[in-house]
Amino acid sequence: MKLLVCGGAGFIGSNFIHHMLSTYPDYKIVNFDKLTYAGNLDNLADVASDPRYTFVQGDITDLDALEAVIKEHSIDHVINFAAETHVDRSIHGGCKDFVLTNTLGVQMILDAVRNNNITKFVNVSTDEVYGALELDEDRLFTESTPIVPNMPYAAAKAGGDLMCNAYWVTHKTPVVVTHCSNNYGPYQFPEKLIPFFVFKLLKGEKIPVYGDGLNIRDWIHVNDHARALDLLLHKGTPGEIYNIGCDNERNNLEITKMILSALGKGEDMIEYVTDRPGHDRRYAIDATKIMNLGWKPEYTRDKFARGMKETVQWYQDNTPWVEKIWEKKRNEMNSFQGGLDRSSETMKAVT
Ligand SMILES: NC(=O)c1ccc[n+]([C@@H]2O[C@H](COP(=O)([O-])OP(=O)(O)OC[C@H]3O[C@@H](n4cnc5c(N)ncnc54)[C@H](O)[C@@H]3O)[C@@H](O)[C@H]2O)c1
Repeated sequence: MKLLVCGGAGFIGSNFIHHMLSTYPDYKIVNFDKLTYAGNLDNLADVASDPRYTFVQGDITDLDALEAVIKEHSIDHVINFAAETHVDRSIHGGCKDFVLTNTLGVQMILDAVRNNNITKFVNVSTDEVYGALELDEDRLFTESTPIVPNMPYAAAKAGGDLMCNAYWVTHKTPVVVTHCSNNYGPYQFPEKLIPFFVFKLLKGEKIPVYGDGLNIRDWIHVNDHARALDLLLHKGTPGEIYNIGCDNERNNLEITKMILSALGKGEDMIEYVTDRPGHDRRYAIDATKIMNLGWKPEYTRDKFARGMKETVQWYQDNTPWVEKIWEKKRNEMNSFQGGLDRSSETMKAVT
């Protein structure tokens, strides 16, 4: 396989590249990433000189650049992680870049795939496109749940998903779309909940929990997500959507307490703050379809405590990694603080 990975310098993309290089000795990988504030080549420092791996800086909204890299490297498969991903930024910082990358960027990749006879394209999307569930609702997201996103981030992702469906129906472009739940694991940018809390606690600072802390997400280890995407690249049926989750619903307070306990800190370090506008209450995934294809998570619900402990330990062991990415991106964070609100206070607190 000669695989183009768009957005491979971020959290999930870099974990996915590690997985693929260690699983398939003969595969070649080209990582095509714009290196926004969230892109970090340090995530891939250990494979940078591997002859099977190439990095190309580029923007997925640039069709010429995409086509050039596909032709130069005789690419036959494509997977897309490139996105603006931070929900708070899409609410408080303006969402033009979200629409450009998450919707238009996907459409540009679809054109590049179509024009270059690519065998398969996997577009990595999110369960947030399904909107929200109630806490007491007896229902999970399935692949046929209607797309009714509530956040600008999720709406922009849904735009990309709809383009995938349209290209499949109209042109038979061989695209598979995935809807995964919240990921945890190493190399996540420290604006996201788990590394953000770990980093603040290590500095002796309090951690802000939105609202009553009872919002529920279905947490999955990033390595399990990587293995699911690997399976779909090989066996996913074009034109189909696959949900990815591991039946591990946890509320934010539970996650917070696990982090506090792993770091030997007390609940007095929690600071309850005004909830995020439009904060979806609950997401929960029915992953039967991909499980029937042969995938199952290693970090099942009963192994979540172990996965979280390992993740917190990774951030503790890699404080220089966190400090460096924070320092390098401080300017972008400061500019994001332009629209002053609660989340910008949160950002300030970490500086
Ligand atoms: N993190 C999660 O919990 C989660 C859950 C479900 C789905 N997803 C989806 O998985 C994908 C990856 O998420 P992540 O958490 O790794 O994101 P991330 O923010 O850590 O990384 C995004 C990467 O995309 C790159 N990028 C952004 N705009 C680009 C552009 N225009 N052209 C090329 N590269 C660009 C960035 O430089 C960065 O390397 C996203 O599509 C996201 O919607 C994430």
